[in-house]
Amino acid sequence: MKDAAPQTIHLKDYTPFGYEIESVHLTFRLAPGATRVISKIAFAPTPAAADKRFFLHGEELKLLSAKIDGAEITPRMVEGGLEADVPDVPFTWEAEVEIAPESNTALEGLYMSNGMYCTQCEAEGFRKITFYPDRPDVMAVFTVRIEGDLPVLLSNGNPVTKGDGFAEWHDPWPKPSYLFALVAGELINHPGFFTTKSGREVELNIWVRPGDEGKCAFGMQALKDSMKWDEDTYGREYDLDIFNIVAVDDFNMGAMENKGLNIFNSSCVLASKETSTDANFERIEGIIAHEYFHNWTGNRITCRDWFQLCLKEGLTVYRDQMFSGDMRSHAVKRIEEVLTLRARQFREDNGPLAHPVRPESFVEINNFYTATVYEKGAEIIGMLRRLVGDEDYKKGCELYFARHDGQAVTIEDWLKAFEDATGRDLAHFKQWYSQAGTPRLKMSETWEDGTLTLSFSQSTPPTPGQSEKKPQLIPIAVGLIGPNGDEVVPTTVLEMTEAEQSFTFEGLGARPVASVLRDFSAPVILEREIDAKTRAFLLAHDTDPFQKWEMGRTLAKDTLLAMIVKGTDPSHAYLDAIKSVVTDESLDPAFRALSLGLPSQDDLAQSLHDAGIIPNPQKIYEARESLRHILSDHLREVIPALYAENDAGAFTPDAEGSGKRSLRLAILALLSLRDEGVTARALYKRADNMTEQAGALQALLAAGHGKEELAAFAERWKDDRLVMDKWFMMQVAAAAPDRAATVAKSLSEHADFTMKNPNRFRAVFGALAGNHAGFHHESGAAYRLLADQLITLDALNPQTTARMSGAFETWKRYDADRQQLIRAELERILATPGLSRDTTEMVTRILS
Ligand code: ARG
Ligand code: ZN
Repeated sequence: MKDAAPQTIHLKDYTPFGYEIESVHLTFRLAPGATRVISKIAFAPTPAAADKRFFLHGEELKLLSAKIDGAEITPRMVEGGLEADVPDVPFTWEAEVEIAPESNTALEGLYMSNGMYCTQCEAEGFRKITFYPDRPDVMAVFTVRIEGDLPVLLSNGNPVTKGDGFAEWHDPWPKPSYLFALVAGELINHPGFFTTKSGREVELNIWVRPGDEGKCAFGMQALKDSMKWDEDTYGREYDLDIFNIVAVDDFNMGAMENKGLNIFNSSCVLASKETSTDANFERIEGIIAHEYFHNWTGNRITCRDWFQLCLKEGLTVYRDQMFSGDMRSHAVKRIEEVLTLRARQFREDNGPLAHPVRPESFVEINNFYTATVYEKGAEIIGMLRRLVGDEDYKKGCELYFARHDGQAVTIEDWLKAFEDATGRDLAHFKQWYSQAGTPRLKMSETWEDGTLTLSFSQSTPPTPGQSEKKPQLIPIAVGLIGPNGDEVVPTTVLEMTEAEQSFTFEGLGARPVASVLRDFSAPVILEREIDAKTRAFLLAHDTDPFQKWEMGRTLAKDTLLAMIVKGTDPSHAYLDAIKSVVTDESLDPAFRALSLGLPSQDDLAQSLHDAGIIPNPQKIYEARESLRHILSDHLREVIPALYAENDAGAFTPDAEGSGKRSLRLAILALLSLRDEGVTARALYKRADNMTEQAGALQALLAAGHGKEELAAFAERWKDDRLVMDKWFMMQVAAAAPDRAATVAKSLSEHADFTMKNPNRFRAVFGALAGNHAGFHHESGAAYRLLADQLITLDALNPQTTARMSGAFETWKRYDADRQQLIRAELERILATPGLSRDTTEMVTRILS
């Protein structure tokens, strides 16, 4: 399909489009194999524009007719679209095209999912619907007419008219084409309403397939909470009469913020206690908020070009994180954020796919919806807020909203609003957007005459295309704890700007212990000389919950690394410290559960690599398994009481209930290593909610039991696609290293497996990539299996294939044999005839 050599697009080449759009009218005549799209667009030349080329994007479209000011024309078909000769005064463009949603397995543009029509246009999917300047800096007012023999016909904006077999929608807010959406199908709505602060009555709906109506209430509440929160916290009000959310089973990503018509992967909106875990509830709440918050950060103010993606994504992730913290617990949320950042973004930043938060070039923009753009992008907003302070952060945001409402803007515009609002120079800070890689921050300390000196040095390793790195502006939040455990200096933010810098704290009575990088104040790797005793002291006394957790985590990590490298026994400092944390009833159970968690195998592999040691996946696996048994033994006396006391009772999907369940299930996992699975089996039978049902099953599987329960689970849930995704995923995740590929292979031959559903594909093969020792088994069987699958999937769905190829991004950490095996698979993928631009770009970057 795509045969021309892929083009690289550069940020520096940006030029504005030469025409403005006064209005867009679209008519859709829906039919699965041959949908007609009729467009009527009023263009006007932009007087100042240098580039007068009239180019419209278009891909996989059958052009039936084109007219300018009513007269039939024959446009020149060119690579990626068409060109036409147009008047130098305002004119009307009309076109009729035919598309085939039924055979669109890429899930981009207009496609079908279980008989329903839906769209995904971000980033560049609108060009698969009709010819259009499909770029975010072209904003227009859309009117849409849908004709089709289906009961529910939805598009953006407000409803205009509706009759038998048709509906019309008008969106008064100018928007770029990537925010266009259309949905048509046999859907049922879960209704709700919200009154905005200025008194606008908004109709809310969550639209689902018949049978899913019982899974909407939680999402609806999350939507109302988000609407209220954005008014209270950012002064942002909703701006249409209606807000629709639609759940779609086949979806490449999590969800999409189309104006007034958000489309969600059903896994990110449908929830019930019987079918969703606490983690699902938390994620759903966060994603509903995220998409809703985009209405201001993304839609009302959008991106000038796709290089500015972090402008809307980093900021919106930051906003959804703060919302979730307000809804639940900031301490727990922050620890979870750091876990994700390290697992996904640090991994990316330390391998061949590393790129700046604002990339400078791309081949396929879909390959840049990354942890770096999203999660590191959010960390940048958090640092900015820390540097300017809460009040100035608010002023900066308000100026940004006031100044740029209705515009398509850049990172420069965002920062300028903050400079103007606060008077602060952000030139150095801006480098966070352009310099890739995770800074290493080294700290040493001296003590003399009541003065504590903290000396830092920073360096950032080279990343692709950036061999030389400059010092970053790093906000380091520090507090000091006195020898008796009291805090003597509360949190202060040190601003590090040089490669090496020292900070002093004077007039101290006795030598305090420094708590450094509180709340994870910057996305860096802190290397600090600190003994186990001091760590245990901070674990016991730090007032900063993140650092308190971090001390337990680093103790666990050092313990595991010593077990792996030197074969030593686990340190008592670690075992005793963990015991006192899990039994400390003054602490939030969710925090205690997080403290009990061990660093992942992937995390340990990265740490070994950083220390110049080639990681052996099997050894990492064995050390971690061994530590789980030792912990189980060390905690044996306190386990029964902890298990009994943390019964959350009747299920409610809030922070309190979920915290107790998480601690109880973490304890159950340890207990299952010593009681033959008796307790877990009992919980499995009794559980009336998915958190405990899945938790008990996972505890059984991780302890080598659970065969019968696995069969019973499938029997009970065979008709629920989302729950069955868990069934597929759990088996691969729990498979022993030498079994993982076999288990994944046989599940891919299961009658309910389909490559056409990204959730199902990810359940099996995402889990395989996540089973570290299984994926990296020395046989190379998992590498081969994943490559086979990706080659087949690429012909159907390039986006998901490209994304999943990231499983190989860490290949250079491993030994020569494994590198050779992986290289061969990557080269085999790359040699596939007709390989998509998406996957070609990813695999090429991974190999380079
Ligand atoms: N803007 C969406 C979100 O973060 C993501 C959509 C990305 N989709 C894609 N095909 N690249 O909420
Ligand atoms: Zn987003």
